[in-house]
Amino acid sequence: MGRPSRQTLNHPSVTSLRHFGRRHSPPPPRASAFRKAAAVLLLAAAVALPCAVLYRAAVWATVPANVAWTRRPLREWDPPHSPVLVPDENGDVDPMPPGDLDSEDLRLELVLQEASMANKTIILTTLNAAWASPGSVIDLFIESFHRGVRTSSLLRHLVIVTFDWKAYRRCVKIHPYCFALVTEDVDFSQEKRFLTTGYLEMMWKRLDFLRLVLEKGYSFVFSDADIMWFRNPFPYFYPDGDFQIACDHYVGNATDLRNIANGGFNYVKSNNQSIEFYKFWYSSRLRYPGYHDQDVLNFIKHDPYITNIGLTIKFLSTTYFGGICEPSRDLNKVCTMHANCCIGLRNKIHDLRIMMEDWRNYMSMPPSLKRFGALSWRVPQNCSLSLLSP
Ligand SMILES: *[C@@H]1O[C@H](CO)[C@@H](O)[C@H](O)[C@H]1NC(C)=O
Ligand SMILES: *[C@@H]1O[C@H](CO)[C@@H](O)[C@H](O)[C@H]1NC(C)=O
Ligand SMILES: *[C@@H]1O[C@H](CO)[C@@H](O)[C@H](O)[C@H]1NC(C)=O
Ligand SMILES: *[C@@H]1O[C@H](CO)[C@@H](O)[C@H](O)[C@H]1NC(C)=O
Repeated sequence: MGRPSRQTLNHPSVTSLRHFGRRHSPPPPRASAFRKAAAVLLLAAAVALPCAVLYRAAVWATVPANVAWTRRPLREWDPPHSPVLVPDENGDVDPMPPGDLDSEDLRLELVLQEASMANKTIILTTLNAAWASPGSVIDLFIESFHRGVRTSSLLRHLVIVTFDWKAYRRCVKIHPYCFALVTEDVDFSQEKRFLTTGYLEMMWKRLDFLRLVLEKGYSFVFSDADIMWFRNPFPYFYPDGDFQIACDHYVGNATDLRNIANGGFNYVKSNNQSIEFYKFWYSSRLRYPGYHDQDVLNFIKHDPYITNIGLTIKFLSTTYFGGICEPSRDLNKVCTMHANCCIGLRNKIHDLRIMMEDWRNYMSMPPSLKRFGALSWRVPQNCSLSLLSP
């Protein structure tokens, strides 16, 4: 199989990424003291510290500013190719995990505040190393906002949540709001093949994170990065849905539970119902081991518990929120197009590029031709529906 040669394992500074946020074996007290000190330095720059601590903290100080949450003005803090690397007892070099867990909450608070719309709504996506390389999925994602209709201003409200160091480093180069999600021993940097253990862990980690965002009072649009944003989706959401989700297959009725939800795109209002629902959804993984969040959602959507907590679910029509499984046929209506029903990164990128080309052709047509509906998608090509049996 033509798998991408994005192996990061042989990259010397990346092997030690496995140490990211390792909780069960605490870092040597020395290092942990440095991190604390660095955090203090960052958060309260004026606090006077003993000289020795200051000296030590200065060694780390370049990093926390960069790994905390990042806006463009802070870019001078970004160590371009040589972050401060301190060999550990084995002589391995650890490129500094993204802050310790104590400050993770604060980092999240800050980046959400910065990126939020006035009504406490943000746009979120997640990124790992495999999707982060130049020309890969994340570039197409961001390009779609620039080429879409009234979507470029939405980038100001997009937070990219990164699963690993390489994705984080790439994020801060291309986007003002990046959040490094601290993960335990799991290495999330490789391409995740559908339904492997690593893939599942990543999906569940993401769901738990989204629950936290809701608890902080932020409503969000979550979008996978393999979704092209061609129009502003906000006018197409239902005013009365707590949880609104795109579909692999839409049956033509927004409340019909026979719609097949796709977890890659949803709009969730922060309220008691949605928070309770995310807790229920996350805990349901224990009842359905081996399934990912999307499958489990399609199991639990019938559960009376959801009606009991008073959650209103709305399924979004594929007329506006389409994908390769079921395209938004009318380019005059499409908001988003998802490279779902697609296995393999090369295939995905190939078809996303075709989608983008189709959109550019559509945008360059005169209005009369656009109205006439003279253009239709040339996908799927390399994404193959037949590989998937839902
Ligand atoms: C929040 O603000 C955005 C941007 O103005 C708007 O599109 C969206 O509909 C608002 N959401 C709600 C729930 O009012
Ligand atoms: C849509 O589905 C809901 C729930 O199944 C049902 O009550 C309602 O009658 C349906 N609406 C239409 C227009 O079919
Ligand atoms: C949400 O739940 C809390 C605690 O149970 C309660 O105090 C609050 O009033 C609820 N808010 C809404 C909007 O229902
Ligand atoms: C896409 O499919 C075509 C035809 O099967 C093949 O020649 C091409 O190499 C594929 N491209 C990628 C990126 O896999």
